[in-house]
Amino acid sequence: MEWGMKNRFSRIMNAQSGNCVMLAVDHGYFQGPTTGLENLGKTVEPLLPFADALMITRGALRNWIPADMNKPIVLRVSGGQSILKELSNEIITTSIEDAIRINASAITCSVFVGSENEQATIGNLAQIVDEGETFGIPVLAVTAVGKEMVRDARYLGLACRICVEMGAHMVKTYYCEGFQKIVKACGNVPVVIAGGKKIEEKAALEMAYNAIQDGAVGVDMGRNVFQSDNPVGMMRAVQAIVHEKASVAKALKFYKPSAK
Ligand code: 5RP
Repeated sequence: MEWGMKNRFSRIMNAQSGNCVMLAVDHGYFQGPTTGLENLGKTVEPLLPFADALMITRGALRNWIPADMNKPIVLRVSGGQSILKELSNEIITTSIEDAIRINASAITCSVFVGSENEQATIGNLAQIVDEGETFGIPVLAVTAVGKEMVRDARYLGLACRICVEMGAHMVKTYYCEGFQKIVKACGNVPVVIAGGKKIEEKAALEMAYNAIQDGAVGVDMGRNVFQSDNPVGMMRAVQAIVHEKASVAKALKFYKPSAK
């Protein structure tokens, strides 16, 4: 990596642990006012101290996040469809100039391997990797899973490896059985997991714990944090797992201090 890219990348990763807790709040780009993000600024503010980076769109950033906030931004630059339509039909919606203007530490788009828009979304990734390489901005590739795709190591390994081959500097995918195989397929490219739909807090923390054990460098979680009944406690619990090698039982104490 060139110096500028290395420098931006190092802003996202926690210097002590070498891992990363990314808070994802980009859901509105296709889901509209997602539960918990109706007033995005109010939700994000108490969570930011526990996050290494914030994954967000440019519109949400400019509307709800104060510019003196000092956490690195992972800027979603793709979109163009809603939950009412074919989700894979994404385009690049934000120019590299605007990403630079925003001072993005990384840019990100989704890739829909196996969908009717597979080629176009792989093309989107290749385009932003070219732009990122030109200006020293790392690219996080998100393996988006269509309704008909099975979230297993075979499929996710295929999708992640394609992202790596296209030049992604970091990959975000889902946790599944055989996750080590996915990490292995990505070589030196770090892998983070998405949380997915809201599940019970203990199960979400177990998923984060298992992902770290299996070689992920962190999480890029959204709904399992901001839709929890204790978002700050959940964020702190995730942080303990990712940065402090905490067990699930120990991390649960942050979510619910009375937990056994
Ligand atoms: C949507 C995304 C989201 O940021 C991602 O799904 C993370 O959020 P969650 O933990 O709620 O799944 O990339 O494509």
